[in-house]
Amino acid sequence: MSDLELHLTSPAAAYQQRRAALAKNITRPMVIFSGHALARSYASNPHMFRAESCYLYFGGPPLEHAALMIEPGSDGQSGCTWFRTPPGPDDPLWLGPTPSDTTCATAIGIDASQIKDYDTLESATAGGNVSCITPPHPETLAHACKLKLNKPTEEESLAIINLRLIKDEHELSAMRYAAKAGVAAHFAAMRAARSSNSETDVQAALVAELARYNCRESFSSICTIRGEVLHGECAGRNLAKGSLVLVDAGAEEPGCYTSDMTRTYPVDGIWTSVQRHLYETVLRAEQSAIKACLPGKRYLEIHRLASQIICEGLVEAELLKGEPADLADRGAYGLFFPHGVGHLLGMGVHDLEDFGDLAGYAKGRSRPERFGDCFLRLDRDLAPGMVVTIEPGIYLVPSIWERDALVKPFADVVNRSAVDALLRDEFGGIRIEEDVAVCGESFSGPEVLTAGLPNDPDVVSAIIDGTIV
Ligand code: GLY
Ligand code: MN
Ligand code: MN
Repeated sequence: MSDLELHLTSPAAAYQQRRAALAKNITRPMVIFSGHALARSYASNPHMFRAESCYLYFGGPPLEHAALMIEPGSDGQSGCTWFRTPPGPDDPLWLGPTPSDTTCATAIGIDASQIKDYDTLESATAGGNVSCITPPHPETLAHACKLKLNKPTEEESLAIINLRLIKDEHELSAMRYAAKAGVAAHFAAMRAARSSNSETDVQAALVAELARYNCRESFSSICTIRGEVLHGECAGRNLAKGSLVLVDAGAEEPGCYTSDMTRTYPVDGIWTSVQRHLYETVLRAEQSAIKACLPGKRYLEIHRLASQIICEGLVEAELLKGEPADLADRGAYGLFFPHGVGHLLGMGVHDLEDFGDLAGYAKGRSRPERFGDCFLRLDRDLAPGMVVTIEPGIYLVPSIWERDALVKPFADVVNRSAVDALLRDEFGGIRIEEDVAVCGESFSGPEVLTAGLPNDPDVVSAIIDGTIV
């Protein structure tokens, strides 16, 4: 790795500020580990290394087997130590040069004297009451265990979550770049759809474009005509004319900030009437939900707003019967829209999800139990600087319609023969997903980071058939 390849997102002063802000809210030292590359099959054939997100957030240079220690009351500079594993004699031969200590110290805003060998972490923490953040990497976990470091308390976790929830300008600009790369990749996928024979051809176009932006996939891309499998993967299925292809993919830029976006379209760009109607319903739900992403708005209410619009569209399509508001109150949308309207976005595509619902749910709130709401990953009041996804959908999921416990309570309001007809036709699923940054009161609304990617059904068709290049 050359000096130019540290890929830090923020200037040193921003890292200092973040560490100082954390240091105010902790009462014992905290060690944050970078982790290590996981072996694919044997140690010298590893997956790509991706440093732990908190470690990166507080300024850790992206090197394996390293850790930041932040002491209570630190000003973000003194009282912060970076422990790193010095390169072995053969490392330059196989891996190239490592950035110098001086380069790293300057970039993250500590004095070079505060850089220590990773081996000395043991003596630095010996006998002390120290908490730690670890990625789920076996060697790192074993190391933290051997050092007898403590899991963070709820207060310590919240001290980090409350900082990371609100993205600063440096983070937002990295996320705008990830969104721009994601937009380009989705354009490439749309353009490839018509001439492609298989899901893999579409995915290949997408991944190639991400690489041109020096980005990786932010998660295993979903590129499939079986869009009703919510986290299904590309399986190389044939793109039969008339089927809907669902592409849910995003970019992870070099500093590890992400985008996460979904488009759904007929492989040949020609919508059937039911496809178009349900697509327009999802689009209406999405647009209303995005408009509602304002400071102070409770995210659960945005989920409910999208769910109500989906019920309206399902009644118009004669899949459900009754008053949309009553259907929404009863949760009938869960049969078609089971997954929740979105989640936090940042360095993770489900940002902060490693902290569980402590991150996604505000104090005093917990996950609803009802099917259709129980997979909702977020219920906080929105605030400027938060970035969330908005991603409603409508799916015909065979495994849902086989579950009596889910279906029977709605027997009186479901038009089962219409549902069965779509299941027989392997309708699949529709999702549309944007990344939305909440702005302050002085802005006219949220910033849609992914706005560069059309979602109007006619424009999407024109991109697929080449009318719009
Ligand atoms: N990419 C998975 C999701 O949209 O949450
Ligand atoms: Mn997604
Ligand atoms: Mn998402």
